[in-house]
Amino acid sequence: MRVLVTGASGRLGRVVLPRLGAEGWEVLATSRRARTGSPVRWVEVDLATGEGLAGAVTGVDAVLHLASSPNRGRQTRRVDVLGTRRLVVAAGQAGVRHLLYVSIVGVDRVPIPYYRHKLAAEQAVAAGPVPWSVLRATQFPEFLDGMLRGASRLGPVIGDPAVLAQPVDPTEVADRLVRRLAAGPLRGIEEYGGPEVLRFDAAARAWREARRSRRPLLPVRIPGAVGRALRSGGLVTEATPTGTRSWADHLADTYGGTGAR
Ligand SMILES: NC(=O)c1ccc[n+]([C@@H]2O[C@H](COP(=O)([O-])OP(=O)(O)OC[C@H]3O[C@@H](n4cnc5c(N)ncnc54)[C@H](OP(=O)(O)O)[C@@H]3O)[C@@H](O)[C@H]2O)c1
Repeated sequence: MRVLVTGASGRLGRVVLPRLGAEGWEVLATSRRARTGSPVRWVEVDLATGEGLAGAVTGVDAVLHLASSPNRGRQTRRVDVLGTRRLVVAAGQAGVRHLLYVSIVGVDRVPIPYYRHKLAAEQAVAAGPVPWSVLRATQFPEFLDGMLRGASRLGPVIGDPAVLAQPVDPTEVADRLVRRLAAGPLRGIEEYGGPEVLRFDAAARAWREARRSRRPLLPVRIPGAVGRALRSGGLVTEATPTGTRSWADHLADTYGGTGAR
């Protein structure tokens, strides 16, 4: 069985590729640039233009669609919405039997542009001719970590203390995706989150401790509908099972006992 993985060079792609190989899939991985490296075969595909797409989907049984271009204005629409539509059409023409799309918990609740594009992409997948599944994952801990670094650029850690997050380890999302591919099309959406729901202030405190940082927390309230959605759990899910690796596990792996800044 052959699977085409878009966005294979990304954070999630890198951890999903070896798992697919271990489960016996023959893996074809896409990137916009020429790459080499076994055990997968790389093909050049640009979803923004459709270049390479028809050849890439030929002869594949399933497509795992991870590619995305977050928060880049028009390019996000070109890649995430129009690119997904192109992929769906090409996969339909090639007779692909399962298209599994990775989305984000909250795309239907938190009104930010990137999420609107992800939701439109989900809809393109669901409306297309290929039997489909959507897995919505919560944020990866690396994303929260990056956000906290960004939020502390000016000194204090600036953030809305009441925003809720539920970080999930990408390796556990990868395991879940591999199981979903084996199970076949769900023709529906499943959600997958991390083991705990954290308030931003608690996540930030743990992050400061792991980094041995004394930076104070500077609370701000995110205004409007976005703020309300984030505080009321727009990014979290009650779905079970959940991943098992916690925010503390991520911090221990990343910052260990050495501390920093
Ligand atoms: N990060 C999170 O916290 C999170 C949480 C839940 C769900 N997700 C979803 O999971 C998926 C993977 O996320 P990630 O964090 O692994 O992403 P990532 O590291 O940002 O990787 C994005 C991938 O998209 C590919 N890509 C970008 N523009 C492209 C284009 N024009 N044509 C074809 N491919 C293109 C890139 O491939 P090349 O550069 O090699 O071309 C790259 O491999 C995304 O759909 C994301 O929305 C992410």
